Amino acid sequence: MPGILLDTLRGGNLFPRPLWLMRQAGRYLPEYRALRAEKGGFLELVYDSEAAAEITLQPIRRFGFDGAILFSDILIVPYAMGQDLEFLAGEGPRLSPRLVDHALGGLQAVPERLRPIYETVAKVKVALEPGRTLLGFAGSPWTVATYMVAGEGSRDQHATRLMAYRDPAAFAAIIDAVIEVTVDYLSGQIEAGAEAVQLFDSWAGSLAPAEFERWVIAPNARIIAALKARHPDVPVIGFPKGAGEKLAAYARETGADAIGLDETIDPVWASAALPDGLPVQGNFDPLLLESGNAGLEKRAIAVLEAFASRPHVFNLGHGIGQYTPIAHVERLLRAIREWKG
Ligand code: CP3
Repeated sequence: MPGILLDTLRGGNLFPRPLWLMRQAGRYLPEYRALRAEKGGFLELVYDSEAAAEITLQPIRRFGFDGAILFSDILIVPYAMGQDLEFLAGEGPRLSPRLVDHALGGLQAVPERLRPIYETVAKVKVALEPGRTLLGFAGSPWTVATYMVAGEGSRDQHATRLMAYRDPAAFAAIIDAVIEVTVDYLSGQIEAGAEAVQLFDSWAGSLAPAEFERWVIAPNARIIAALKARHPDVPVIGFPKGAGEKLAAYARETGADAIGLDETIDPVWASAALPDGLPVQGNFDPLLLESGNAGLEKRAIAVLEAFASRPHVFNLGHGIGQYTPIAHVERLLRAIREWKG
């Protein structure tokens, strides 16, 4: 039984709409915070496949979402490529050595760092009830490279954009290396049981049009073509956050089966600008959800209505915030489930 999420990603226009939330497994859930306190930290959770599988399932048990997204992180790929990875409380991730002043060739790959993630996928797959879809994911090469180069999150991705102009050959080598690991990593997730995968390109919005073509569209197209050669029936969701009007080219040129839309995109514009019948996912503002504003349901329905003529997976425009009250998520869920098109 494939379920309404997988059917929608394959092009079915189904009502009520399937629903999941980016970052649905995480800190806004008290059951996540409890397990994290017990295990000590984020990476400890990711590398304990029993705990990671449990966290993947927590939001499904609580809310009955149509999709379960693997609990892991996009920075596991640089970790497997040989950078050290730490998550500092209150400061976010740190990768070292950073490639702004260290050669890619000096890294010693540690592919075993991917194996526990496949174990998590396999454990979730066994436990997930039929009709719910198991989603794997990876970061897109551009976004992953911004962390590898700067060693941390950065405003405007300044150092990485500069490197891409100053030394395009060196930067292309980083992108190529990320592509290769990402194809293997997503294939591994699929072979362990992931039924669809998402490519997160959180910082796609910082690039000028020609660089967007080169560092976002081309690498995503290569990953998708390689995955299609190995796993032709597994849908790939592309999420180029901040792409704006460049979304139409992204949709035409990458071969993605579905496109994620952030909250800055006008859904009426997107529905007109994207190829007919192409499934979309997103675009409800996570901060409207966090606020609990009285207009929350009305806006959710406006998103649903704008996409009524094409397959649509209801989701947020970006990850759910850690201070989002559970009661607001429940309100959103009720509104989506009651709307029948
Ligand atoms: O539920 C899910 O969506 C699955 C798990 C998931 C996580 N990160 C767990 C996580 C996914 C899909 C990601 C993607 C991710 N990670 C992205 C792309 C999407 C996005 O949100 O923009 C990026 C840029 C990262 C890198 C990353 N990981 C940062 C910048 C941080 C620190 C900031 C923060 O929110 O704390 C993380 C940590 C992280 N990844 C947490 C979770 C649940 C928080 C860990 C904790 O402190 O408990």
